[in-house]
Amino acid sequence: MGKLRINGNRLWDRLDELAQVGAIPGTLGSSRLALTKEDGQARDLVVSWMRQLEMEVSIDQIGNVIGLWHGKGTDRNLPPVMTGSHIDTVRSGGRFDGNLGVLAGLEIVQIIKEQKVLTEHPVAVSFFTGEEGARFAPDMLGSLVYVGGLDLQTALNTISVNGEKLSDELESVGYSGTAPCPGITPKIFLELHIEQGPVLESEGIDIGAVESVQGISWTELTIEGQSNHAGTTPMTMRRDAGYVAGRISTFVRELTDQMGGAQVGTVGKVDLTPNLVNVVASKASMTVDLRNTSEAMLREAEDRLATFCEEVSRKESVKIASKSLARFEPVEFNQDLVSQISTTAKNLGYTTRQMTSGAGHDAQMLARVCPAAMIFVPSKGGLSHNPAEYTSLEEISAGANVLLDIMVNAAGGCR
Ligand code: GLV
Ligand code: MN
Ligand code: MN
Repeated sequence: MGKLRINGNRLWDRLDELAQVGAIPGTLGSSRLALTKEDGQARDLVVSWMRQLEMEVSIDQIGNVIGLWHGKGTDRNLPPVMTGSHIDTVRSGGRFDGNLGVLAGLEIVQIIKEQKVLTEHPVAVSFFTGEEGARFAPDMLGSLVYVGGLDLQTALNTISVNGEKLSDELESVGYSGTAPCPGITPKIFLELHIEQGPVLESEGIDIGAVESVQGISWTELTIEGQSNHAGTTPMTMRRDAGYVAGRISTFVRELTDQMGGAQVGTVGKVDLTPNLVNVVASKASMTVDLRNTSEAMLREAEDRLATFCEEVSRKESVKIASKSLARFEPVEFNQDLVSQISTTAKNLGYTTRQMTSGAGHDAQMLARVCPAAMIFVPSKGGLSHNPAEYTSLEEISAGANVLLDIMVNAAGGCR
């Protein structure tokens, strides 16, 4: 079979068109929190592209969308070879995170179709509900339900950061489907994604063969103190939730400094009540995101945070309630697929290295049920979850060509 190549400009144009949905004015980025009106419009656009490609579209009970390609000679009884990702974004998102993996999947189907490649296995392109977790926790919610890691009803009952129920929001965008959860188990799952970090760019490498994903721990802390007058309340008599939130924030940074290695920690959200210039805060609601490649180290970080919260609550006379929003152990991808990514990249003339993922991804959930791995392409300046996120047409095309090659092989493709 002669070498197949994706059409990079067509993929680039679709990325651009999708990025216009919820576009953040004056930037390249988009704002499409899961199951908002904008996410709904983006879903409609991608589904319309799937239909143009004559893919069979199914929507499951948590709103995951799977487009299935069967060609002449495809055995529908065989498990599909699946690629995909997500099209929801964080509020201040870029145009590549997630979207690239989905649209590269469509580009691959289009090449298979145009080049009349006969595939023995169906080829599936999926986008999963609520990967980001920025509106509904946990992250990777849709793919977690897809693989049976979270029961459907619990997921549907999830409450958003603003108090909306997931099932209502799913209905309102029109994506409460009927396909059962858990969904069909693919033969393999391969996800193309931007790195979202600085490694590939700084080392001048084209393709990351992702062998693992670090563990993730998200905790919501609610601190209850007492509101009082900012001018009259002596410093020794305050129960200041805002101050305690600040102490915890600082502690998280100090913890990562002390632990070193792969430990990262982020306080990305703090809400104070009543949030006024001259009132001691009665309440603070904050999140802590801890990640490590080692499960033991991640547990240690969680334990140390819990101990600090106990100490500071006693000392400052506040109550601290802790709720886990997401907890995923580190994941190892399928070594055979990881090697295939390295070999394919080299054969296509790209430089490559194996690496771990700092971000969470749908592929880590699919890894629970089938061989899975990821292909990374560089992120300019290591920027992501930022409208300035950027990866060039050439870099994207390289990743999509590696994906194409492995998908077609895995599907038993021939011309
Ligand atoms: C998901 O994108 C995460 O890693 O936060
Ligand atoms: Mn992503
Ligand atoms: Mn993301």
